[in-house]
Amino acid sequence: MLILGIDTSCDDTSAAVVEDGFRILSNIVSGQEEIHAKYGGIVPELASRQHIEMIAPVVDEALKTAGVTLDDLGAVAVCFAPGLIGSLLVGCSFAKALAYARNIPLVAVNHLEGHLLSPFLQSPQPEFPFLSLIVSGGHTSLYAAEDFGRYTELGRTRDDAAGEAYDKVSKMLGCGYPGGPIIDLLAAGGNPVAIDFPRAYLPESLDFSFSGLKTAVLNYIRSRGPRANGERRLPELPEPMMADIAASFQKAVVDVLIRKTQWAVEQKGIKRVALAGGVAANRGLRKRMQEMGDEHGVQVFVPPVSLCTDNAAMIAAAGYHRALKKEFSGPDLNPRAHLPLG
Ligand code: KG4
Ligand code: ZN
Repeated sequence: MLILGIDTSCDDTSAAVVEDGFRILSNIVSGQEEIHAKYGGIVPELASRQHIEMIAPVVDEALKTAGVTLDDLGAVAVCFAPGLIGSLLVGCSFAKALAYARNIPLVAVNHLEGHLLSPFLQSPQPEFPFLSLIVSGGHTSLYAAEDFGRYTELGRTRDDAAGEAYDKVSKMLGCGYPGGPIIDLLAAGGNPVAIDFPRAYLPESLDFSFSGLKTAVLNYIRSRGPRANGERRLPELPEPMMADIAASFQKAVVDVLIRKTQWAVEQKGIKRVALAGGVAANRGLRKRMQEMGDEHGVQVFVPPVSLCTDNAAMIAAAGYHRALKKEFSGPDLNPRAHLPLG
């Protein structure tokens, strides 16, 4: 069965065609980094407007690249939650109109389920049950996945998501947006043990917290140089110091993510771990997760970077399993800014 997936949950307009939930025929992503970069973060209204511009050409390109037409589709799967409500509305409205006009079944997909099932778009695929660490700009959560559609949340961030912390630290250092890839690059040239930033292990739970770390980085930067009189800007630091801050911050984030995942493995006795979400593109995290797996006999699944960051192939993959169960939606489908998974 061919599924057209659509994702407009945040600042990427994406459409993909996926066969039988795992074979990617096309996966088109139109990003908006340049639009939001000068604001140091996503401006929701600008994101919605750009989605409106791009949704039709991106869907068109996904169909053309896959070499299929609307008549070949078994369903249209659209991400309806969670995300920026204005952005979600564009994808949902488009998908509903398309499904209605062409009489194609419509499937509503939770963005987090898309991330969680992204490891099924590569080989080898994980077997159930497996643990999933979803780390993105909006979420940092650990799940136990028992089957398609059966997920239990084991822990989540109590404040900032890991990606959000990356984006904010990048902004503090005067680097661009999105911050994750920039800090990742900068960290490669720095000393990860130069600064002992705090780690919130919250030993009583599998929850996360990154706001204390973010504040510690801010205080450190403030302590490193004078600010011009009356200026609210942070001091400009020399490149080697910025690299040390990036590397030490990254180590603090990755230490917590790895330790928590290891605890979940021990508590649940599940020796399969999949990594997902934009921060899963991080080279430090990918390497350390693999090392943790090798050391503790845990099978680790890390999708290619293009499937970690937001993309519609993961929405199509998740939509396929819902379409098999005939979990279809109608024209009354409404997007939701917040929706837990499991
Ligand atoms: O999953 P995603 O594309 O969108 C959301 O659903 O949020 O994740 C975006 C987040 C951003 O915060 C971005 O800075 C972060 O993923 N990110 C990274 C890297 N690439 C993207 N964080 C750390 N290292 C990276 N290489
Ligand atoms: Zn995402």
